[in-house]
Amino acid sequence: MTIENRAFEADTSKILDIVIHSLYSNREIFLRELISNASDALDKRRFLAATEQSLQADRELQINIKSDKKAKTLTISDNGIGMDSEDLVSSLGTIARSGTKNFIEQLESSKQNDDKKLSLIGQFGVGFYAAFMVAETVDVISRKAGNDKAFKWHSDGTTGYSLDDASRDEAGTDIILYLKKDAKEFLEEQRISFMIKKYSDHLSAPIYWQDAEATTMLNSASAIWTRKKSEITEEQYTSFYQQASAAYDTPYLTMHNVTEGVTNFTSLLFVPSTRPVDLFNPERKSRLQLYINRVFITDECEDLVPNWLRFVRGVVDTPDLDLNVSREMLQQVPAINKIKKSIIRRILTELKKQAGKNKEEYEKFWLDFGIVVKEGLYEDADFREKILELCRFYSCKKGVYISLEEYVSEMKEQQDEIYYLSSETVEQAEISPHIEGFKARDIDVLVLSDPIDEFWLPLVADFDGKKFKSASRGAVDLEKFESKDAEKKKPDPSEFDSLIARIKSNLGEQISDVRLSSTLTESPACLVADENGMDIQMERLMKAHNRDFQGAPRILEINPGHVLVSALNKMAGAKSGSKESELVDDASYLLFDQAQILEGRMPTDLTAFSKRMTRVMASSITDNANSK
Ligand SMILES: Nc1ncnc2c1ncn2[C@@H]1O[C@H](COP(=O)(O)OP(=O)(O)OP(=O)(O)O)[C@@H](O)[C@H]1O
Ligand SMILES: [Mg+2]
Repeated sequence: MTIENRAFEADTSKILDIVIHSLYSNREIFLRELISNASDALDKRRFLAATEQSLQADRELQINIKSDKKAKTLTISDNGIGMDSEDLVSSLGTIARSGTKNFIEQLESSKQNDDKKLSLIGQFGVGFYAAFMVAETVDVISRKAGNDKAFKWHSDGTTGYSLDDASRDEAGTDIILYLKKDAKEFLEEQRISFMIKKYSDHLSAPIYWQDAEATTMLNSASAIWTRKKSEITEEQYTSFYQQASAAYDTPYLTMHNVTEGVTNFTSLLFVPSTRPVDLFNPERKSRLQLYINRVFITDECEDLVPNWLRFVRGVVDTPDLDLNVSREMLQQVPAINKIKKSIIRRILTELKKQAGKNKEEYEKFWLDFGIVVKEGLYEDADFREKILELCRFYSCKKGVYISLEEYVSEMKEQQDEIYYLSSETVEQAEISPHIEGFKARDIDVLVLSDPIDEFWLPLVADFDGKKFKSASRGAVDLEKFESKDAEKKKPDPSEFDSLIARIKSNLGEQISDVRLSSTLTESPACLVADENGMDIQMERLMKAHNRDFQGAPRILEINPGHVLVSALNKMAGAKSGSKESELVDDASYLLFDQAQILEGRMPTDLTAFSKRMTRVMASSITDNANSK
């Protein structure tokens, strides 16, 4: 057989059926599509009338909606550019031909729209047919601006259409929908008003509802984000924020920007000043509203802003997104991704600026939202450094929240690490034995008290070249720093060998080792994790998620400078069975149990703990009483 090239053939009524019944998941979309077409028609007329006087309208360019309950019709009218019979055939009689797209292309080829003054909504040439989701038949009566004649297009959306002469007082178009039986809800003003508010509130043209009594404007037609910054007052921004995000507070930050480049978009973003109640709800996703040329598309585009900025509110409007035909799913992810990156950068830069301007206000923001922002350290390697600059941590030395930059700038001369303590609360950290040695040497320790800290820490290598070092894990060498009580003579470590051996044999597998501490000054003992082990906070988290989780045994560090430890050391060699030897045994358990309590844990064996405690107290108290 010789090769033959053939064009596809199509059963147009089937295609129409698919467009009408399968393209949209939600039939109320029909109104958005017809209103968008009307808005395009008005914009076209305005644009052309600017150079062609005869095309100017006698009254305000507008969209009117009315219903006739008897006839069961809903009519959407505009006094826009209108269509002549040829336009009706080519635009409405041809599926997937967009008169609007042609219009823009013609302007562009004749360089009349170089400054992109005119941007229209229609692009696929199918939106109109959404009318048949709710209408049995549709009449379109239209008169093109500059013409006297009007035409009527009529169709039931299956077999074809008819074209006839008609009359119309002024240029423009009426779309008359003969509603299906199950679509009577669209005769009600309330229903229409709700849909206009949702999808078309910010179109520039006014949309009116007309009935026998009155004419009511249904949209706010403001699209505040399309106006110049200089023309918008702070109150207007605030009221838009409160309206658009159902909030009551005054935003902490308002960011209004026009971004031009490969992807053009306008964004009006807000950072709230109070923490929303459901901030930590895992279901909670970003609620940025995405518009394309002022037409609302979705507020469920999760790719627009990362989860770790989920508290940001506002609007993104772009003409540069390729939607799929139904305008429901976003197709071109790269463009969304570009917008997202740019939004993140803008927010982070603005936050940094604000942090420099007003420390207290920023600290309040951080205490409300920092815990969410820190998720970004874990999730978004690209922005890690920028986020670290925004982080604030409680400083044990200063008693306030400080930045890492501040910490590093005040590090000791010999210090090359950032010391931190993982702790459930700031209060607990402040009384922790782990920071005693640091305090004594006037070295600052940062408190990391959010669960998320345990997750990003292993991923973040350093800040400004300084590594993070846990005060409760591994050996911390504080010897190199001068201590306030440096004159005290240091005990010889080997003197404690037998006490250490004794404690080790008593505690057995409950601990991994016993050693002398170089950080303790006031407490007799504390528990530290192995260099490669898990911080106690992390272990607590793991346990919360998995009851069977068994943490690794810790190292018990004892303080050779403490009177209790040195007294015990003297008794360490006591004969077994003697009262002294029993005291040493009890004390080694109690040191361990007490160290556990300071970590916020319970002693493993409460009965044994209580007995030992009573024994030791009894011995000390009776000794004292006897000597009276
Ligand atoms: N109210 C109107 N006034 C003037 N022309 C209109 C009107 N409604 C529709 N048209 C013409 O009919 C064409 C087809 O409309 P339709 O909504 O199907 O497609 P579109 O708006 O071009 O693209 P989309 O599928 O993205 O909506 C439009 O491009 C426009 O030329
Ligand atoms: Mg359209």
